[in-house]
Amino acid sequence: MSELAISEEALEELQPIEVGPLETWRFIRQSYQYPLEHAQELQKRYGNAVMQKIAGRTYVNLYGADAHRLALLNDGEVFSNAKAWNLIIGRIFPNGLMLRDGDDHRYHRRLMQAGFKNKVMQGYFRDMLPQVQEAIAAWPIRPGKSLLAYPLFKRMTLDMAATIFLGMDLGDEADRINQAFETTVAASMPRIPVAIPGTLLWRGIRARKQMCHFFMKQIHSRRHGSGRDMFTLLCQATDEEGNRYTDQEVIDHMIFLMMAAHDTTTSALTSMTYALARHPEWQQRLLDEVVGLGTGPLRYEDLDALQHIEWVMKEALRMYPPLSTLPKYSLKPFEFEGVKIPADAIVVTYPIHTHYMTDYWREPQQFDPLRFSDERLEHKNHPYCWVPFSGGAHMCIGLHFAIMQIKLVMYQMLRSYRWSVPKDYRMPVQQSPISKPRDNLPVFFEHRG
Ligand code: HEM
Repeated sequence: MSELAISEEALEELQPIEVGPLETWRFIRQSYQYPLEHAQELQKRYGNAVMQKIAGRTYVNLYGADAHRLALLNDGEVFSNAKAWNLIIGRIFPNGLMLRDGDDHRYHRRLMQAGFKNKVMQGYFRDMLPQVQEAIAAWPIRPGKSLLAYPLFKRMTLDMAATIFLGMDLGDEADRINQAFETTVAASMPRIPVAIPGTLLWRGIRARKQMCHFFMKQIHSRRHGSGRDMFTLLCQATDEEGNRYTDQEVIDHMIFLMMAAHDTTTSALTSMTYALARHPEWQQRLLDEVVGLGTGPLRYEDLDALQHIEWVMKEALRMYPPLSTLPKYSLKPFEFEGVKIPADAIVVTYPIHTHYMTDYWREPQQFDPLRFSDERLEHKNHPYCWVPFSGGAHMCIGLHFAIMQIKLVMYQMLRSYRWSVPKDYRMPVQQSPISKPRDNLPVFFEHRG
């Protein structure tokens, strides 16, 4: 019997909190707009497990690092990723890796590893390097004028996706495919979840069809091609028994991967840029690290030496996790901290809440990258207290890819520019669906002499 299965002795059943329709509405709005404050308020009022019934569905919020351990380790396969994520992004990203469970998920994840092996990553790095250098050099820097950082990163990661994921300069199709891709991403978590003509979801579904068509046309040649891009690698990935993805599976994975890689990395780069703009002493420290590597272009082998960039990245991901919440769906009843929680609930854990808990972090409101240094290792206070990349079977498969890309972009930015924001500026953050600045983050860049 699974460790999580309910024992015979009676456990207290978790009861839904009783709040009127107005307060329910306030909770929904708050959870979307201010997930940290909302989680802190609920946790303080009701404890680490909070149940709500909204429009006939049961929602359970679980707080703290132990909640992440329970939901992400998923002993006894109590939780389904597919059932939770299908409700949220299933119309636009059906059958993506994150929307699969159990053996089916394990099979698809094993095949996908072909696109993330160390040797393959080195190839991506070589392809990305000149592209990042060119893109950053071309930023339209003008003295005294700010530039919006978020769209700069969005453009750059999208262009890199074309090279690394598709292995092509999109040529004449670039605008059409970029547009279709952007529409699918924008429609992934629409506020109005109905697909009637004109709505975001309707446009997203149409754009997805365009992308499916675009990929389908090329599958045959990729099955036999010699490219080292992700699309070709997934077309050719084979397991020990000779199994391969079907054409439709390759397409579903490609569309999902492009989305998973794009807004998350953009979000991380944006919050790092903001933090470094507010903390020039850290910008200088990172510059010293970068300069310490010598004058030549960055090499793949140098990445590990960029320790301080990595601490800043980890700190930015702690304070502004691109995915502030992680939804799962309970397939069976389970126990958490002495209460019994029913099957068929949407169970949400909160990286953003855990990342600010004083149980694990010293002065969590402060930007303090040294907390990740060997002397402090605050993220080791609990194996699940720092979870921007999730954990367990669904832990982000692109984690190393993301770190590589972020280090490369930061290296190049630091060498080219110094940047700042006005002293009293505070980035207004919209946490859902993926963390981003509401104002696109205006930043003042200056060329380094
Ligand atoms: C800073 C950047 C990134 C962050 C913060 C991030 C975060 C996450 C999180 C939280 C999950 C797990 C969600 C869950 O538990 O259900 C996830 C899954 C995933 N991510 Fe990332 N991600 C990032 C970059 C990337 C990149 C660059 C790629 C691809 C190159 C990628 C591909 C994926 C895939 C395919 C999954 C599904 C894994 C599975 O279900 O087995 N991600 N990511």
